[in-house]
Amino acid sequence: MKKLLFVCLGNICRSPAADGVFSAMIAKKNLTGTLACDSCGTGDWHIGQLPDSRMRAAGAQRGYNFNHRARQLCAADYKNFDLIIAMDDANFRDIIARAPAGTDISKVHRFAEFCTGEFAGTSHVPDPYYGGEKDFHHALDIIENGCSSLLKFSEAEPH
Ligand code: 4NP
Repeated sequence: MKKLLFVCLGNICRSPAADGVFSAMIAKKNLTGTLACDSCGTGDWHIGQLPDSRMRAAGAQRGYNFNHRARQLCAADYKNFDLIIAMDDANFRDIIARAPAGTDISKVHRFAEFCTGEFAGTSHVPDPYYGGEKDFHHALDIIENGCSSLLKFSEAEPH
């Protein structure tokens, strides 16, 4: 079983959406015995909360049910997950900075590394929190794009 962890700042917009999209892809491809995912935030402001209602609404329009409860990145995550995927550069730096001694840092990636086609060259998943509906859909477009190749990468990469 390979386990992926999506990490953003608040764990109420981008990473629970990536978690939900990737989970749906795992189920659709019958990979539930092979791959699993979760999400968390570097910040602690929203612990216990459902995803932002705007992200839930944008996801529902595409057939997803984003129902993760926010939690904060913790030391055990570095052991328990095979791939840790940062939604933006600040998340990436925070994940690296908090890594317990002995962590294999090569398991930490930027989500944007996996974007292809229309979103090839994207540097990060923009935070829609202070934006409007179209920003939530833009984040979801990038997330759906990256999750497709991340699924292939996760299946192929030995662990
Ligand atoms: P997220 O978005 O990192 O994609 O969950 C944010 C949610 C909340 C805040 C910032 C970003 N906040 O400052 O409360």
